[in-house]
Amino acid sequence: MGRLLALLMLLGGASACQRDWDALHRRKHQHQSHNNHAKRAEVDYPPALSDVESVLVNSFDNKSISDWSYYYTHGDHLGSHNKTMAEWTADKWRAAGFDAYLAEYPIWVTYPNHSSLTLIRPDGTTHKANLVEEVLAEDDTSSYPNLIPAYHGMSGSGNVTAEYVYVGYVSDFKVLEDAGIELKGKIALANYGGIYRGTKVKNAQDRDMAGVVIYTDPLDDGEITEENGYAAYPNGPARNPSSIQRGSVRFSSIYSGDPTTVGWASSEDSPRGDVSRYNPSIPSIPLSMKDGHALLLALQGHGVTAKEANKSGWTGAFGNITYDSGPAPGAVVNIDHLMNGYIAPVWDVIGIINGTSPDEVVVVGNHRDAWVIGGAADPNSGSAILIELANAFGKLLEKGWKPRRTIVLGSWDAEEFGLQGSTEWVESHLPWLTSTAVAYLNIDVGVSGPRTSFSGSGEIQTFVVEQMKKVLYPEGWGDFPTLYDMWYNVTEGEISPLGSGSDYASFYQNGIGCIDIGSDGGKKDPIYHYHSNYDSYAWMSRFGDPEFSLHAAIGQWLSLILYHVADDVLVPWDLPNAATVLEAYLSELNETVADSDFPDLDISPIASGIAEFKKQAANIKRVADQALAFNDTVILGVVNSKYRDFSRGFASAGGLPGRETFKNTISAPGIDNGYGADVFPAVTDSINKGDEEAANEWIEKTAGAILRAAEILEVNY
Ligand SMILES: *[C@@H]1O[C@H](CO)[C@@H](O)[C@H](O)[C@H]1NC(C)=O
Ligand SMILES: *[C@@H]1O[C@H](CO)[C@@H](O)[C@H](O)[C@H]1NC(C)=O
Ligand SMILES: *[C@@H]1O[C@H](CO)[C@@H](O)[C@H](O)[C@H]1NC(C)=O
Ligand SMILES: *[C@@H]1O[C@H](CO)[C@@H](O)[C@H](O)[C@H]1NC(C)=O
Ligand SMILES: *[C@@H]1O[C@H](CO)[C@@H](O)[C@H](O)[C@H]1NC(C)=O
Ligand SMILES: *[C@@H]1O[C@H](CO)[C@@H](O)[C@H](O)[C@H]1NC(C)=O
Ligand SMILES: *[C@@H]1O[C@H](CO)[C@@H](O)[C@H](O)[C@H]1NC(C)=O
Ligand SMILES: *[C@@H]1O[C@H](CO)[C@@H](O)[C@H](O)[C@H]1NC(C)=O
Ligand SMILES: *[C@@H]1O[C@H](CO)[C@@H](O)[C@H](O)[C@H]1NC(C)=O
Ligand SMILES: *[C@@H]1O[C@H](CO)[C@@H](O)[C@H](O)[C@H]1NC(C)=O
Ligand SMILES: [Zn+2]
Repeated sequence: MGRLLALLMLLGGASACQRDWDALHRRKHQHQSHNNHAKRAEVDYPPALSDVESVLVNSFDNKSISDWSYYYTHGDHLGSHNKTMAEWTADKWRAAGFDAYLAEYPIWVTYPNHSSLTLIRPDGTTHKANLVEEVLAEDDTSSYPNLIPAYHGMSGSGNVTAEYVYVGYVSDFKVLEDAGIELKGKIALANYGGIYRGTKVKNAQDRDMAGVVIYTDPLDDGEITEENGYAAYPNGPARNPSSIQRGSVRFSSIYSGDPTTVGWASSEDSPRGDVSRYNPSIPSIPLSMKDGHALLLALQGHGVTAKEANKSGWTGAFGNITYDSGPAPGAVVNIDHLMNGYIAPVWDVIGIINGTSPDEVVVVGNHRDAWVIGGAADPNSGSAILIELANAFGKLLEKGWKPRRTIVLGSWDAEEFGLQGSTEWVESHLPWLTSTAVAYLNIDVGVSGPRTSFSGSGEIQTFVVEQMKKVLYPEGWGDFPTLYDMWYNVTEGEISPLGSGSDYASFYQNGIGCIDIGSDGGKKDPIYHYHSNYDSYAWMSRFGDPEFSLHAAIGQWLSLILYHVADDVLVPWDLPNAATVLEAYLSELNETVADSDFPDLDISPIASGIAEFKKQAANIKRVADQALAFNDTVILGVVNSKYRDFSRGFASAGGLPGRETFKNTISAPGIDNGYGADVFPAVTDSINKGDEEAANEWIEKTAGAILRAAEILEVNY
């Protein structure tokens, strides 16, 4: 754990959706071992497409995508706020030829009744924070009358006035504790980034602190800062100083979905539990860069200095701030924050095309709800792409095409509160999904910059990379012929394991293979105003993707993926790659063990499990290749059902220790960072907790899970 945190602290972080993209990208510097596609492949140029592929790819029109984006980004669509938008989405899918309907779930939502934050300086002067962004003439939705104030979903309530301390980037409470500074009763001022925001709140709550303030530091912005001479939005690509990152602070590494129905589907009459185990009890408030600056300034000259703290990442990027910890005698903050919590309906949209083989289903989904009126990147770049994707498949349907496997589109509501819409839908369809789902394909932030991103299960990776080679990279974003060339440039072939932070979580945790795709910005790209009012159509059409050409490219990629998973004679999985990925995760676990208090822990049972998996993977690949060559439909059917089912073996029925709805023994969100994945999480968690017996027990159980998967793959032809 120490190693991971040390690394996280080295680097700045911008986040996307619930997930922290940079935290994922950072892993590549930590563990080169995931690199399964290390060698850059030669790509045919221009790519040769089949007739059907051409129909799909040519169907993507940047003008239409821009229209869909405009619709989604011009109305309040916070979770539970906009049924009309759900109906509109269903209508669009229906027009394309899908069977579409709404699935309603009553869930726990929170909304601020009132919220304010005031700094009171020792000299009695005050500074009241702005909990909404400035109105900009250039950005029409920044002046909408029903703007959503900046708040932390699922936060606690309170009216507290207390001294406050700066606790750094990943909440370095230890620095203050070592300096003898009492934390109890104080308010923590933390910097966004590095770890999931809710984990920062939990760390403060665990120390009996009275509240938390999380601000955005220019450290998140790499080179693109006003100090470096870039104009701020709307005049340039730098961050607008009034921009605020909203977001949920639920304890995401221990549950997903509705916190009153953890582990079962929510309905009108379902029993409901207490949320206190899952959500913070202390108030927390997000702040802009500008207001964060005012709080930091008042601490100057007091407490632990940045030099004494001696932590990389402690010092942010304000040139005129020393980043002293405080407290400053007489400098206090008042947080007056009352959250309303209540049960309200949310609406998933489900669209279906029945396949000729109805016991094989592929689900592709995106959430629709946003923290702000806009949401042009998060999530509605993905939503606009899904409509265009439905239309592309509509063109095939018009020609009389029917997919081999059933296609299900999901437009999830209330993702931002904690993956509610997707989790409740999965929970209410679990037996069916467990017996039919071939894969879940997720697109959340489809476009927030030009850099292609993708994480996913081992068996799906090779094929997804192949589809990138068929998509032309749009002009004007760098000299990359295909999407693959851009992706390789960004990642050098590295593919992250799945943690949490978007709607794939509940599928993946039930043993369904998943991918998550999209694109984001790098250190030299325009700043994406994540979870801010400026994640708007105006920003997107000026800076993010002015011609909606990145949207089209990502949509083409997703369409090709969906088409092949849904219609190939043989499900296009690469099982030997799945084995290689497991081996890479094992060497990561081996490092964790070597650095831990239990360096002699015997992980060989997992190694043996993987060896058996590898053997069965090679065998089924041989059988699959032969069956294809001889067009043996009976054997192809057997192989397909095994490709569909084997990953169910990875799910542990009773769940991971202390978090029963997380079941995947291969990867899960890190307990202490909340977004990025830990591999072999039950073993890793036990080691981190100092419980050697549990670690041994989970080594056996994890090995057993891998052997179960291997057994499902076994074929004797
Ligand atoms: C729902 O969203 C649509 C499209 O953005 C918008 O026109 C409408 O006003 C929104 N409805 C509500 C109740 O805010
Ligand atoms: C805000 O809280 C007050 C006092 O608890 C309550 O009377 C009022 O109805 C609430 N307002 C809203 C909009 O929920
Ligand atoms: C919060 O507390 C302050 C004093 O500490 C008080 O002035 C203010 O009215 C309180 N707010 C509410 C909503 O009760
Ligand atoms: C700062 O911390 C590093 C280890 O993280 C240590 O090597 C170095 O000596 C420390 N410097 C001071 C001045 O304490
Ligand atoms: C400190 O720098 C910020 C921008 O980095 C600027 O907005 C602010 O005015 C500066 N404050 C002072 C006191 O110089
Ligand atoms: C699709 O299949 C389901 C289950 O067999 C059936 O209930 C439904 O009517 C079918 N839909 C269409 C449009 O054929
Ligand atoms: C990525 O592209 C940049 C600019 O074209 C180039 O300098 C760099 O070498 C490329 N990196 C890789 C890994 O291809
Ligand atoms: C679509 O792309 C073309 C260039 O290929 C561009 O001229 C046009 O402005 C784009 N349309 C929109 C709505 O962005
Ligand atoms: C773990 O690493 C050690 C070297 O540190 C190596 O000898 C051993 O074979 C590795 N075990 C596995 C299962 O990879
Ligand atoms: C494979 O066999 C099926 C069923 O017998 C047949 O419909 C299909 O056309 C064959 N495919 C090829 C490529 O020969
Ligand atoms: Zn999102």
